[in-house]
Amino acid sequence: MTIIVTGGAGFIGSHVVRRFVTNYPGYRIVNLDALTYAGNLENLRDIEQEPNYFFEKGNILDTGDLERIFSQYSPDGVIHLAAESHVDRSILSPLDFVYTNIIGTVNLLSVARKHWTGTKGKRFYHVSTDEVYGALGATGYFTEETKYDPHSPYSASKASSDHFVRAYGDTYQLPVIVTNCSNNYGPNHFPEKLIPLFINNIIEKKPLPVYGDGLYTRDWLFVKDHAVAIDLVFHKGKDFETYNIGGFNERKNIDLVKLLCKMMDEKMGNAPGTSEKLITYVKDRPGHDRRYAIDASKINKELGWKPSVTFEEGLSQTIDWYLQNTEWLKHVTSGEYQQYYQKQYQ
Ligand code: NAD
Ligand code: DAU
Repeated sequence: MTIIVTGGAGFIGSHVVRRFVTNYPGYRIVNLDALTYAGNLENLRDIEQEPNYFFEKGNILDTGDLERIFSQYSPDGVIHLAAESHVDRSILSPLDFVYTNIIGTVNLLSVARKHWTGTKGKRFYHVSTDEVYGALGATGYFTEETKYDPHSPYSASKASSDHFVRAYGDTYQLPVIVTNCSNNYGPNHFPEKLIPLFINNIIEKKPLPVYGDGLYTRDWLFVKDHAVAIDLVFHKGKDFETYNIGGFNERKNIDLVKLLCKMMDEKMGNAPGTSEKLITYVKDRPGHDRRYAIDASKINKELGWKPSVTFEEGLSQTIDWYLQNTEWLKHVTSGEYQQYYQKQYQ
């Protein structure tokens, strides 16, 4: 079995690559990544010498790269995670999201179709987001039947890519499968997203910019539990199906931030209340979705998946990882990221 994982040097992709390389020594795992600002091979240092791991620098916008890599490895499966993933960046530069998330996905579908026509036992697994469903009010959950209603350029681009994936299934019988997952957190998360940004800012004693009234709600899932779900869906999911993946763990942003401040103060030996003083309410994100919450009962009933750690356990492990990996933080926050950060917050 040979699997191409796109975006394997990014946050979730690196956990997926590590899990597959470690758990399936008989498979060849090919990490196809363009190494944008979000891709970092340091995320995979511990497994890069494994004989079943292969890295190919390649861009999903370049069909020449895709042809070369498909011809070289003849993959049986693709797990597609490569994307532009940050909502705030999509507000600043929507076209980058159109190119990578929509056109890049269609390129990958087209090359897979060309190489797999007339074959059996292949699988194109597209990793997507709950943001395609739009925003919930105070109650209710996103199910696999919820109508798409994206609001940000990021979620609109992911919604479009999901439609293309299903269209290739319907039109060409490409064996596709889609999952829509809630907010992930954990090690290797790029410090532009809420949790790692705030951990980094607490370490650096910088303000913690809470958007709007801070009462927005997200459903948080530890990234290693998402990797377990991806493993299960890849091996046991049914072709042409969609599975929602969520943390059963809704938190209002401000409650999460206060918990994070308390845990960081304890771990860093600060006086209680030190980090909370850094909280600063700032202008809201345009088009900000009020609440996301996933009904993950389908994947639970059909594939037996549920998260293995509580939010408190996952957050504690995450903080420990960042406190032990300050060099990683320094590397990824230098250069291009600094320019973005200044534009966004100063
Ligand atoms: P990330 O931004 O951390 O990583 C994206 C990776 O894709 C990087 O390694 C980057 O180098 C690579 N990449 C970007 N453009 C590329 C291109 N043109 N060609 C090849 N590689 C390219 O993203 P993430 O948070 O790990 O998200 C991975 C996937 O999971 C995305 O599709 C995202 O939409 C989806 N998702 C993320 C979350 C979340 O909470 N982070 C939740 C649900 C779904
Ligand atoms: O729901 C899944 C999605 O979760 C993924 O598809 C995206 O790739 C991922 O980035 C994430 O999107 P969010 O926009 O929900 O994540 P982010 O960490 O950017 O923001 C989480 C919440 O925190 C959101 O309500 C906005 C708020 N926020 C974020 C930042 C960066 C702040 O209040 N201040 C901030 O500085």
